[in-house]
Amino acid sequence: MKFFVDTAEIDEIRELHELGMVDGVTTNPSLIAKSGRDILEVTKEICALVDGPVSAEVVATAADAMISEGRKLAQIASNIAVKVPLTWDGLKACKVLTGEGKMVNVTLCFSANQAILAAKAGATFVSPFIGRLDDINLDGLDLIADIREIYDNYDFDTEILAASIRSANHMSDCAKIGADVATAPAKVIKAMASHVLTDKGLTAFLADAEKAGIKIL
Ligand code: G3P
Repeated sequence: MKFFVDTAEIDEIRELHELGMVDGVTTNPSLIAKSGRDILEVTKEICALVDGPVSAEVVATAADAMISEGRKLAQIASNIAVKVPLTWDGLKACKVLTGEGKMVNVTLCFSANQAILAAKAGATFVSPFIGRLDDINLDGLDLIADIREIYDNYDFDTEILAASIRSANHMSDCAKIGADVATAPAKVIKAMASHVLTDKGLTAFLADAEKAGIKIL
C-alpha cells in the first residue's frame, strides 16, 4: 500500500520523505488554509520535494471552471493530480482532464455508486473518506472493502486512495482490505510505530543494560 501524507506542511512532508514514507501528498482547501500559504507557491514547493503524485484541489463548482482551474494547477509540475469533488460536474471535469493526460483524484467519495462513476469517468484515484463516515455511525472501512470488490470485479484501473484516516488502525485495516493508497496526517503515520509493549520492553532492556554496565561506544 502506498503512503500519501495528507498535509500542506513542508516540514512534516520533509521528515517523512527522508524516511522513505512518502509516496505522494494530498492537500485540500482546508489544509492549504491551515498552512497559511499561497496555494500555487506551497504546492510547487511540495511537488519539488516529492516525486509521487501531489493532489491539489480545485475550488470551482461548475465543470468548465474546474477544468480551467485544473489546467492551471497541472502547470505547477508534472506530478500534480488535480483533485475534483465527486459531483456530476466534477465527473465531467475528471473526464476532460484525464483525457488531456492529467492525473485526477476524485474526492469526497462516500458511496460505492459514486466510486463506480469515478472509475467510469477515468479517475486516476478515488478518495473515499473513512473517518467522516465513521463520524455519522456508518462504517468507512466497509466502503473501502465494497469499492475494492467492485473495482476488482471489472478490473477498473482507478486506484482506491483511502482518505479521512484518523487512526493507525485505519492504516492496517486499509492495507488488509487492499486499498492501493492511504493518505493520512503525519501524526497518524508516526503513531503506527507506537506500541505499549515496545515502550515497556525498551525500559526493561535499558534498566538491565545500566545495571550490567553495558557500554557500546
Ligand atoms: O484526505 C481528506 C482528509 O483531509 C479529510 O480528513 O479528518 O478532515 O475527515 P478529515
